[in-house]
Amino acid sequence: MSSSAVSSGVVSSGVVSSGTARLLPGGPVAQQVLGEVAAEVAALRAAGVTPSLATVLVGDDDASAGYIRIKQRQAAELGFASPHVHLAASASQADLHRVIEGFNSDAGVHGVLVQHPIPGHLDYDRALQVLDPDKDVDGMHPVNMGRLALGLPGPLPCTPAGIEALLAFHGVPVAGREVVVLGRGATLGRPLAMLLAQKRPTANAAVTVVHTGVADWPRYTRRAEILVAAVGVPGIVRPEHVRAGAVVVGGGVRYEGRRLLPDVDESCARVAGAITPRVGGVGPTTVAMLFRNAVAAARRAAGLG
Ligand SMILES: NC(=O)c1ccc[n+]([C@@H]2O[C@H](COP(=O)([O-])OP(=O)(O)OC[C@H]3O[C@@H](n4cnc5c(N)ncnc54)[C@H](OP(=O)(O)O)[C@@H]3O)[C@@H](O)[C@H]2O)c1
Repeated sequence: MSSSAVSSGVVSSGVVSSGTARLLPGGPVAQQVLGEVAAEVAALRAAGVTPSLATVLVGDDDASAGYIRIKQRQAAELGFASPHVHLAASASQADLHRVIEGFNSDAGVHGVLVQHPIPGHLDYDRALQVLDPDKDVDGMHPVNMGRLALGLPGPLPCTPAGIEALLAFHGVPVAGREVVVLGRGATLGRPLAMLLAQKRPTANAAVTVVHTGVADWPRYTRRAEILVAAVGVPGIVRPEHVRAGAVVVGGGVRYEGRRLLPDVDESCARVAGAITPRVGGVGPTTVAMLFRNAVAAARRAAGLG
């Protein structure tokens, strides 16, 4: 377990905080998880199995191509094979489905990642439903959402799983405490609420979800011992929405170009007891969970998971 504290000014991550909240960076969490993944990959390779994470990119969006390159580099560093298909921006839904079905039927491929977003004429959710749920490293396939709802084993959605791991790593108790999640989106708020309500030592919380249907949502967030912002509206969470000493996790972000605009206003650090940094909080844990899902898929396919 580790954590950084800020009094005022700049901390090692380059994050500026004006308050006294303890910082909860995601980098060390990701490092620990990726270390475990690397060890599992090495063990699989020693047993004659090369874990393989396939990636699919559609179109020529610079940011998406950059994300794929980073993931492929990281996959190679961890010891994964990483076959890649790049479809032209003009690819049809059927083209995309054919690529996914090819990876589904390839026993040497254990995980598949279709980089999001895809060009506007394509339907990501339909493509996701074509993917073999056991190869779904994002944990977003409807079957995996169902497994999560029922508490069955399967790939967990990466950002919610990353937040659970982040809280556990930093020694933030969750069990029995009041967690309020602002936002009920399919990627973050809804699956996170399901995850943190599960009967496990790092979860087991009293979880409330608030959204646009709850006009007086600050009434709920102000009583939260752990508040997670999962909205995508920059600066929506302000100090007056935070209980003194609460743990505040910023999951929601919006990008304007390459500029990242988080849900949680930095001034919340004045009120919170602990808070994720503006940059390097939840993001790194999300990527680590992707690789954790990929190696788990390889272990399952090898009959070891
Ligand atoms: N850090 C990461 O690695 C990472 C990974 C994945 C996602 N994210 C971010 O997480 C955020 C959520 O993504 P998502 O796909 O789960 O959600 P989403 O589908 O974009 O939904 C956003 C949620 O926020 C609620 N909301 C919007 N405006 C609100 C307001 N003014 N007051 C109260 N609630 C409001 C919406 O309420 P209604 O349901 O009532 O419309 C909805 O439930 C996004 O910013 C996304 O970029 C971050």
